Amino acid sequence: MGPADLLRKSLLTLAADNRVRDLIERAPVSRSVVKRYVPGAYDSDAVAAVATLRATGRWATIDFLGEDTTDPQQAEAVTTAYLRLLDLLAADQLTARGEAEVSVKLSAIGQQLEGGDAIALANARRICEAAQRLGTTVTLDMEDHTTTDRTLTTLATLRADYPWVGVAIQAYLHRSEADCAALAGEGSRVRLCKGAYSEPEEVAFQSMDEVDKSYVRCLRILLSGKGYPMIATHDPRLVEIGTALAREAGRAPDSFEFQMLYGVRPEEQRRLADRGHRMRVYIPYGEEWYGYLMRRMAERPANAMLFVRSLISR
Ligand code: FDA
Repeated sequence: MGPADLLRKSLLTLAADNRVRDLIERAPVSRSVVKRYVPGAYDSDAVAAVATLRATGRWATIDFLGEDTTDPQQAEAVTTAYLRLLDLLAADQLTARGEAEVSVKLSAIGQQLEGGDAIALANARRICEAAQRLGTTVTLDMEDHTTTDRTLTTLATLRADYPWVGVAIQAYLHRSEADCAALAGEGSRVRLCKGAYSEPEEVAFQSMDEVDKSYVRCLRILLSGKGYPMIATHDPRLVEIGTALAREAGRAPDSFEFQMLYGVRPEEQRRLADRGHRMRVYIPYGEEWYGYLMRRMAERPANAMLFVRSLISR
C-alpha cells in the first residue's frame, strides 16, 4: 500500500470515528474549506445554490446531511427536512422538469434503528410521495456494503409505486456488474459512482485501476441497457469513456446524465453543460458535514492538506 492509499484509508477510518469527529467539529475549521463543498446549514442555502447552478445550465440533487441516525426523532426530523426542502424548491419553480431532485441516505431516515427497514421505507415513501406531487425524483444514496442488500430491497419496494426512484451503485464492489445488469431495465435510474467507503477486499476491489475497470464494465451494461444511467464521476478518463459509450449506444442527450459533487471541478461541470449534456450537481447541506467532508478529503490528498492547514491556522 503506497502513502496515498494509506492516507485515504486513515481518513476513511477517521470519518467513522465519533471521538475524532467531536474534536474536529469543535476546532476552528476554516469556514471557507467547508463552504467549498457544503453551501450552508439551511435549506435556503441549498435552494440558493440550486438557483445559481441553474443560471449556468446545471441541474441539482440535494442531500440533507445526516447519516447513521440513532433515534426515531432524528429520522423524523430528517424526513421533515426533506419534505420542507421539496416544497421550497417547488415554490421557486425548480422541480417541475426534474431540474432539482433529492438524494436520500436510508441510514439518515431510520435504517439503522430497531425495525429500521420498515421505518426507512415508510419515511422514504413520504419523500417519494411529495416528489411525485411536485414532478421530480428521488435517488437513494448507497452506503457501506453491509447495507447494499437492504437498500436494494427497499428500492424495489419503492419502485413498485414510484418507478422513477433511482439508486447509486458503487463500481468498487465485486457484485456491482450483476446489480447493474439487474437494474438496466426500462425507466431504471442508476447513478454509477466509484464508491466512497473503506471496504474489505472480500467484497471490494482495492486498487484504483481495478475500480476504474469495473466502472467501465458497469457503464457498458448501463449505457447499452434501457434505463437512465447517471454517470457520477470527476475522473476525466471516465467522463470521456462515458461520452464515447453513450454515442456508440446511440443515446439521445436526454437519456442519460453526468453528475458531479458541489465544489468539485466546476469548470468541467460547465463545459459538459455547455456541450449539451445533462449535468447534475450533488449539493449537500446541513450541520452534519463531518462524514461527508472526510470522504472528500480521502479522495484527494491535496484537499486533505488544505483541511489540515485550516485546522492549525485560524
Ligand atoms: P477519483 O476520486 O478517483 O478522482 C479521479 C480524478 O478526478 C482525479 O484524478 C482528478 O483528476 C479528478 N478529481 C477528483 N476530485 C477532484 C477535485 N476535488 N478537484 C479536481 N479534480 C478532481 N459514493 C458512494 O459510496 N455512495 C453514493 O451514493 C455516492 N453518491 C455520489 C453522487 C455523486 C453525484 C458523485 C459525483 C459521487 C458520489 N459518490 C458516492 C462518491 C463517489 O463514490 C466517489 O467517492 C467520488 O465521486 C470520487 O470518485 P471519482 O469518480 O470522482 O474519482
